[in-house]
Amino acid sequence: MTEKIIPLSVPSLKGNEFKYVKECIDTEWVSSAGSYVDKFAKEMASYAGTKYAIACSSGTAALHTALILTGVEAGDEVIVPDVTFIAPVNTVRYVGANPVFIDCDDYLNIDADKLASFCEEECDFTGEKLINKTSGARVRAIIPVHIFGNPAEMERIMDLAVKYGLKVTEDATESVGSYYREGKYAGRKTGSVGDIGCYSFNGNKIITTGGGGMIVTNNPEYAQKADYLTNQAKDDTVRYVHNETGYNYRMNNIQAAIGCAQLEKIEEYIDTKRKNFNIYKDALADIDGLELVEEPSYGFSNFWYYSLLVDKEKYGLNREELMKKLDESGIQTRPLWQLNHRQMPYKDCQAYSIEKAEHYYDRLLNIPCSVGLKPEDIKRVLGVMKDV
Ligand SMILES: Cc1ncc(COP(=O)(O)O)c(C=O)c1O
Repeated sequence: MTEKIIPLSVPSLKGNEFKYVKECIDTEWVSSAGSYVDKFAKEMASYAGTKYAIACSSGTAALHTALILTGVEAGDEVIVPDVTFIAPVNTVRYVGANPVFIDCDDYLNIDADKLASFCEEECDFTGEKLINKTSGARVRAIIPVHIFGNPAEMERIMDLAVKYGLKVTEDATESVGSYYREGKYAGRKTGSVGDIGCYSFNGNKIITTGGGGMIVTNNPEYAQKADYLTNQAKDDTVRYVHNETGYNYRMNNIQAAIGCAQLEKIEEYIDTKRKNFNIYKDALADIDGLELVEEPSYGFSNFWYYSLLVDKEKYGLNREELMKKLDESGIQTRPLWQLNHRQMPYKDCQAYSIEKAEHYYDRLLNIPCSVGLKPEDIKRVLGVMKDV
């Protein structure tokens, strides 16, 4: 095979990244005390539409901190999607709590109907606390994840959270720039609706800092405490007195400098992602048995990933066979993550009404979606798909 590999999702660093990083090196401000860290946080708060933002070393660090801030305690339970990258699930364990897995909807996000029936039928509400009837544990929080860029049904999730006294940490790591088109949160970006929103800027995200994350919130107490906890909980910055267990979860100036340059390009990137999605979609209309997961009518997706559904009956090949065929042509793809209720550390946790997740797990294939994707790359991917 001589053709170049078409990767699934790689960053584009063609803006001011080098200029800003050079400035960090020229001025010798490379640690978390540099001015780009504050600048990037301020710009992210403004972009997300929240009052505060705290830059972190990763999306996972942001999520872990959010669970501490919202009072999730050892022995509690936290409702999470069965379909998600495992990081938010792991952070539930970092605080000694257990996840409860809920099925996905047709946009791959946590199913709001099933979330409601879980709370209503599987739990008792005391008027203050939601108690899981099976485990006897207190259900303290929900982590909706906006999967592959599609906004989760936050209006219904927030209504349930208010009804049952649950805290909400939005995992918006995959959905920077996605927003609501209608309803109570029309015009609001994902990440800005819950008690806390978390972003990741690792290498495959729509904007990257190499590795990094962000906490956004409108709550000044959460913001102040997030800053404190992610910076080793220093109560005296001269004598280094610590009255709580802190974390080294700060972003450094070089990462933040890259983040500022990337954020300048976000609208352009989203535009490109959406245009390329439509090129794929139009061409796939002629291939029986292949279709893309669409955005919901109530929301605007950044289309971070393009999720193809493979129907073997109509297409002739199943997902595995198509994945192999594309791989043999130098085209990188990825199936859906292993479902979380089947992952070894969580196989004994409660999984509620898992149906659609199994369906999508068997059929879904994410196809190349980098912002640098060229028309000829898309043509090549489609060419292999058509050749069955
Ligand atoms: C949904 C989701 N949550 C959390 C993370 C973790 O972010 P990070 O790698 O920055 O820790 C990722 C991706 O990496 C993700 O896709």
